[in-house]
Amino acid sequence: MIRFDIITLFPQMFVSPFGESIIKRAQHNGLLQIEVHSLRDYTEDKHHITDDAPFGGGPGMVMKIEPIVKGIEHLKKPGETRVILMTPQGALFTQETAERLSTCSHLILICGRYEGVDERIQFFVDEEISIGDYILTGGELAAMVMVDAVARLIPGVVGERDSVLEDTFAGSLLKYPQYTRPRNFRGLDVPEVLLSGDHEKIMKWRRTEALKKTLGKRPDLLARAPLSDEDKHSVEELKK
Ligand code: ADE
Repeated sequence: MIRFDIITLFPQMFVSPFGESIIKRAQHNGLLQIEVHSLRDYTEDKHHITDDAPFGGGPGMVMKIEPIVKGIEHLKKPGETRVILMTPQGALFTQETAERLSTCSHLILICGRYEGVDERIQFFVDEEISIGDYILTGGELAAMVMVDAVARLIPGVVGERDSVLEDTFAGSLLKYPQYTRPRNFRGLDVPEVLLSGDHEKIMKWRRTEALKKTLGKRPDLLARAPLSDEDKHSVEELKK
């Protein structure tokens, strides 16, 4: 069971993404708890102000630090919680990050808005995470992406555990090609080996196809993937 507490200016954004399908079921089954908190609830002024003009001048507004820190301190469980700021300035989120975070029991995610958060926030968070080298309007979508990727690693969340384990086994390779009925669609046949019933042959074929796909589409991933001697041999053959 992992508990996520999300602090955001826009709690409504989370309703549908977390209220459907696998994430909804995981919460219902007690494998996952997601609580979304409005940053405004942690303000103390009459107008619930969460941002202010930057010292030194310049365009845009900066998110104030007091309500964010009040939220963190309200939700934090000593010795248990990891506090994460979603920001394009953070470390890049990868499958390894998801695996590491899936071992935590309590995560607080702070969604910043695009113009930035008071720099002193760094002293109140454990890490800063970006989901990619592009700028979103805020950290909300990034938080959703992260919750989704972490949640599916919790045992029981994804129906067929095998599919998660298979992804892990495949390491950083792209997935092998998959087919379902019909066997022939407009002259396009399903590869014969998949109909052979020979599981060993199918496994070998899938591994080679995963290597082929990764080599063609994401050679950068292949360079970092843990490969067996047999894989390396296959890659050399594929390159020819
Ligand atoms: N906020 C704005 N852009 C972001 C990104 N790429 N990752 C995480 N948080 C963000």
